[in-house]
Formats: sequence, structure tokens, C-alpha cells
Amino acid sequence: MVKPRKQMAEVAMYSPGKPVEELQRELGLSHVIKMASNENPYGSSPKARDAMVEEMKNIHYYPEVTAPVLAEKLSRHLGAPADTFIFGNGSDEIIRMLTRTYVNPGDEAVMAKVTFPRYKTNVIIEGGIPVEVAMKEGTHDLTAMREALTPRTKMIFVCNPNNPTGTIIGKEELLHFLESVPSDVLVVLDEAYYEYVHTDDYLESLDYLDRFENLIVLRTFSKVYGMASVRVGYGITQPAVVQELLKGKEPFNVNRLAQAGAVAALDDDDFLRDTKRKNEHGRLYLESAFQKMGLSSFPTHTNFIMVDVKQEAEKIHHRLLEQGIIIRPGHVMGYPTMIRVTIGKKEENEKFIQALENVLKKQGQ
Ligand SMILES: Cc1ncc(COP(=O)(O)O)c(C=O)c1O
Repeated sequence: MVKPRKQMAEVAMYSPGKPVEELQRELGLSHVIKMASNENPYGSSPKARDAMVEEMKNIHYYPEVTAPVLAEKLSRHLGAPADTFIFGNGSDEIIRMLTRTYVNPGDEAVMAKVTFPRYKTNVIIEGGIPVEVAMKEGTHDLTAMREALTPRTKMIFVCNPNNPTGTIIGKEELLHFLESVPSDVLVVLDEAYYEYVHTDDYLESLDYLDRFENLIVLRTFSKVYGMASVRVGYGITQPAVVQELLKGKEPFNVNRLAQAGAVAALDDDDFLRDTKRKNEHGRLYLESAFQKMGLSSFPTHTNFIMVDVKQEAEKIHHRLLEQGIIIRPGHVMGYPTMIRVTIGKKEENEKFIQALENVLKKQGQ
């Protein structure tokens, strides 16, 4: 047997939720509700879909390496220069590019415990050391994260809003933190759920890219734009950082359909507004239902909620699966009595609450 690099022994394969098709077959159900992967339940913009169909005629050509049309469009959209954008096959790939480019074996990378698992995995693959800092009530403890920095720290991951808890960091607190981080430590500010944030107490990080040259902000078309399977994410940072990341990037990482679809998605304000409005209704409905059931949840600024069901999450997960509802059990993320549920359509949320009530009643007997 050929031996893999030794750090691969510490890496587990990404475990996705059960695919809808598999569960339908297993349970003989015609309809399964997937509330496990924080996808957009309202699909994607028809403008994006039309653009991708139109682009089909060009799929025999390689895509452009730096996605210049998309960079220009986002530049106008967000008010950041086009040369500050780097595109990935999902923001997942930007995370990998960052660790590939910056993490030497033995370098430390600070992150919250519990946060998006790909940070840790990618750091380990490069031979780096993940330094996980306990959270306070589901929120990043930035003071403790600052204290965890050592001369060996190369990178800090701040997930804002955080997956899986949905919480955000206040404006002043984050700004203060950015000011306190040495300029030779890269701050990766992952804003995959940026568009869902519903408070003014949230730092508009792009305004600070000039001030903090060690900052990179990550965003994605997978969530509010509903294009998870097309795979487009991006980073916004100093042009010098972009140039370093481009050296190790797969040349044709973002395909033609993805580039065309993302450009068109930016023209569909209606779809975006509609998604956010419906998500907000869903959030309020679920939060009030949880409250009526005596269950507490973390305050979320995303399209998912983490709620404490006060019973073994694994069991609740299985009982809900039997009823055709897929959620994410918290025990795999360090929250043994919590579940993470994606905010669905109105009828999906109602079915989920009904099923959860039944399951909790039965478990309690
Ligand atoms: C916090 C966070 N970052 C990054 C990603 C990766 O998103 P994508 O690779 O689809 O852009 C996700 C996906 O769930 C996420 O929750």
C-alpha cells in the first residue's frame, strides 16, 4: 500500500447530509424535505438559469482563468476594485487556496470551536496546527482568540455569521479585534451568509480592506443566490494577496456556466429581495414556534437555526428522518442536544414543527 501523507490520518471525509433521492428510496416516500445543508429553498434566479442555458453553446471552450466579467460586475456591485477579487469553485476552494498558499507545516491557524469544518481540515492537510478556541453561547470569543495568537500563528478564521450557530459578532467588537491582530497574520472573514444579516450592528467589512492589508473577506453564490451546485465563491482582498493565490489556483476552476450564471444573478434584485423576505418570515415563525415549545435557539442571522431540543440530537435526527425530514444533528458538531435546521418554505417549516412536536412528545413518554 502506498502511504498517504501522515496528516491524512487525522482527516475524515466530509460528511454531507443524506441525499434526498436516497432517503426517498429507503423510506418509500414520494416527498422528502431537506433542511440540512442551508440551501436556498426558493431555487435560483430565472435570469441566472437563462444565462447558463445560453452559455451552453460555449462549453467546448475553456473558461476564463480570472473570471474578468464577473470581477467587473461585482466590482460595480460592491464598490471594490476588480483586481481585489479571487474566484473559487465555491468559497470552499478559496479556503483551500488560502491554506495552500500561506500555511507552512507547523504554522498555527486559530478558529472558533465550533465553526465551519473545512477550515480545520484544510489546515491539517497542509501540516498546520488548528487552534480551536471555545465559543461563548454560540458566538466567537474574540478576546480568547486574540489571546490564542502566538508567534507561530499564520491565519485566523472568523465566520461571521457563524456556521453552525448562526450568530454574529458586533461591529465595534470585530473592528477592535481587527485592529489588534498583527499585520503578518491573515484574517479570513467568512461571510457566506452576509446577505441574510438583519441588524445594523454588523461590520461592513469591505470598507476596511484598505485599512487592514491582512484581511480577506469570503462570500458565495451558494446561499442567498441559490447556486450551490454551480460552485462560485469569491474572496475580496489586497491585489497582492490575489496574485499569490492565483499562483496555486487550478487555472479553470470556475466553469463557464458558473461565471455566466453568477453575472446574471447579480441583475436579479427581485429574487434576492424575495428570498430574504421569505427567509425572514420563516425565521420568525420557527423562532416563535420554538419559544412556544419551550426550546431555546441561538440568535441567527442566516438561513438556518440551531435549536436545543433538550434530548439526544442523534435520536431526534433519526425520528425526523423516518418522517421524511432531514436536518443536521448537533452531536457531530459538539452540541449533543441541539439540531441545526435550514429555514425552509412556509409549508416545510410547518411540517417540520409538526414533526418535531410529535417526535419530542413520543421521546418524552
Ligand atoms: C460558513 C461557510 N463558509 C463557506 C461555505 C462553503 O460554501 P460554498 O463552497 O458553497 O461557496 C459554507 C457552506 O455551507 C459555509 O457555511
